Amino acid sequence: MRPVIINCDPGIDDSLAIMLAVLSKRLKVVGITTTFGNASVEHTTENALGIVEYLGADIPVAKGANGPIKGRRINANYVHGNNGLAGIRLPHRAKAVAESAEDFIIDRVKAGDVDTIISTAPLTNIAKAFMKDARAMRRLKKLVIMGGTVTEPGSVTRVAEFNFFGDPYAAEYVLHTGVYKLMIPRDITQRVIFKPSDFSKFAPGKRSELAAKLIRFYQRFYMNVLDLDGNPLPDVLTVGIVIKPGLIKTKRMQMDVETGGDYTRGMSVVERRSGEYQRKAVTNVDVAVSIKPDEFLDYFIRTISSRKTTYK
Ligand code: RIB
Ligand code: CA
Repeated sequence: MRPVIINCDPGIDDSLAIMLAVLSKRLKVVGITTTFGNASVEHTTENALGIVEYLGADIPVAKGANGPIKGRRINANYVHGNNGLAGIRLPHRAKAVAESAEDFIIDRVKAGDVDTIISTAPLTNIAKAFMKDARAMRRLKKLVIMGGTVTEPGSVTRVAEFNFFGDPYAAEYVLHTGVYKLMIPRDITQRVIFKPSDFSKFAPGKRSELAAKLIRFYQRFYMNVLDLDGNPLPDVLTVGIVIKPGLIKTKRMQMDVETGGDYTRGMSVVERRSGEYQRKAVTNVDVAVSIKPDEFLDYFIRTISSRKTTYK
């Protein structure tokens, strides 16, 4: 099993992503680091601890940043609810470990315990780990990032996706570290829509009920405000792609993130001009450019519904 750290801001789709990672039995979740984003880091840490206990999994949770390296803190309570989890409070006995998120990341990467980090949140913790110990972080084999957008409009603004907007300085910094980066942008996540008709595909059971309750809450924003015919599952898809890399095709791109800008803060700025501009591009990230939506949704629903696990 691939040893991974999940850096997240649970958050409804982050929570479902943790469920998929654990239930897939294809990833060894060495740890979860939390950050502000969909809710405050207090809430996202409580939610991560609750999901881990709900799954009966033994996964340490390290609390991270409660704001961006530069700029003001945002949240997405209007999508994920005031506590970040549709108001659902999952009980837990465990507490977050004493280490900060960035120290937890550095220690596990330095020890060789993890070769991949999956980030489904603002990149503040990741940037801080590289700033604090770049030498240790060079041991990381792969950084998978849910964030940014290439041709799709933004989400939190007309041009910026939420995770990059949450900490543009951290996103710009991380995109220019030397580690191998795979980015799953909105261009891909918006092509995988969970529709109301998909609920009936879950097999009955407590876990399916929880997943359905979370998705129903999440779906309200996408259907009522954005007029979509369902909701994307950005973070779940990102974990699904780490488990099943054949779901995507990728293209190497040159990408920066706007850290200033009255209208463009957090915008992912990509070299898309043809010919000589492409030949001379200084590429820094592999970006997913195609996806197999049905194959992913089928896998997600089957895994959440599966009874072949000892979890609830
Ligand atoms: O743009 C989608 C991202 O923003 C996801 O990670 C979601 O959880 C929110 O944080
Ligand atoms: Ca997230």
